[in-house]
Amino acid sequence: MSELALFSLSEEHKMIREAARDFAQNEIVPIAAEFDESGEFPHATIRKMGGMGFMGIEIPEEYGGVGMDTLAYVLALEEICRADASHGVIMSVNNSLYCHGIMKFGTEEQKQKFVTPVASGKSIGAYSLTEPQSGSDAGTMKSRARRDGDSYVLNGRKSWVTSGPVADYYVVFMMTDPEKRQKGVTAFLVEAGTPGLTRGKKEPKLGIRASATSELIFENCRVPAANRLGAEGEGFKIAMTVLDAGRIGIATQALGIAEAAYEAARRYAVEREAFGQPIGAFQGTGFKIADMKTRIEASRLLIYNAAMAKEKSKQDGRRYSLEASMAKLFASETAMYVTHQAVQIHGGLGYSRELPIERYFRDAKITEIYEGTSEIQRLVISRSELGLK
Ligand code: CAA
Repeated sequence: MSELALFSLSEEHKMIREAARDFAQNEIVPIAAEFDESGEFPHATIRKMGGMGFMGIEIPEEYGGVGMDTLAYVLALEEICRADASHGVIMSVNNSLYCHGIMKFGTEEQKQKFVTPVASGKSIGAYSLTEPQSGSDAGTMKSRARRDGDSYVLNGRKSWVTSGPVADYYVVFMMTDPEKRQKGVTAFLVEAGTPGLTRGKKEPKLGIRASATSELIFENCRVPAANRLGAEGEGFKIAMTVLDAGRIGIATQALGIAEAAYEAARRYAVEREAFGQPIGAFQGTGFKIADMKTRIEASRLLIYNAAMAKEKSKQDGRRYSLEASMAKLFASETAMYVTHQAVQIHGGLGYSRELPIERYFRDAKITEIYEGTSEIQRLVISRSELGLK
């Protein structure tokens, strides 16, 4: 992997990248195929990643994290995703969709209670916005939360919740005032095991099979009013703000997958011979390698830039939606392009389950879908550029 001339990494950045690389290559690479096959959740390695501080990289130490910056988070996540995208998304959701939102919008008590166990890696967090009938158009959710004395009563069905079947805590978005559409959405923190909350069946998926995804069903689920995150009606903004951070994580996941597939294809293009020369010497393959490498490096630049924009936002509060959406859009489409070409370069071997290439290809697809499809990223970018929102 080449170093980017534009970003000079500090010693701390290099150290966390090395630690994540060593861990990923030694502990995750050897088990990734087995967990992809079984679809089991990799509890043991996730616990170890928690012990290494990977579940709360940007979270201050007093709340269980390691207090580093967004670039450090991205560098570590890139290494984990290069080894296995399932481990990567579990790490990404814990860090950004879950911890980041509570740190930004939560009370002191909420940070202590809901961030500390997750950032320290002892527990798992999840984020629940989507419903069976509302994905991209997130403001049309049907789930309802009604205030009742010192608590709220939650009813509805949420879908596609990453880590849904295994999480200890959930950030959940529900309507408190349906007439106001987006401005009637409120966020809540819900503990697993709360009466009235049932976790639906685990979804059978094409890729990221070791990451567990499910529905959540709320039937008169009562949570204390103290578990409301932000004010009533502030939920949609919280959901969107948090997704900006999440999208940097998914862009990084896409980058990691693309890098792994590229590295395998590059090696194979040198080793494999046909018609008396390495297949990379044929322009048909060599130019593929050139395009794969160029798109990967462009993705990294967009991602590191989005990470810097998020870091700056901690000081000036400026939104970095544009940078995050461009990074996710470009990196996820690059992951699809690169994994597709990697299968092609490997020929029959690329199609075989004996090698990880077909897993990279299957894992890449989700990065164009979750945390906002490529179409939604284009909507965010075009609205921003045209000044329509
Ligand atoms: N940050 C802060 N505020 C934001 C914002 C952002 N990024 N984006 C929008 N808002 C605010 C707007 O400013 C507006 O507030 P005001 O009226 O006060 O100005 C309000 O939110 C409504 O905004 P819009 O009118 O733009 O809302 P919209 O209904 O047109 O939707 C959208 C905009 C970009 C399409 C949005 O709905 C969206 O991102 N949809 C995709 C949802 C998504 O990514 N879902 C994935 C869920 S998570 C997942 O995949 C599962 C998992 O577990 C990983």
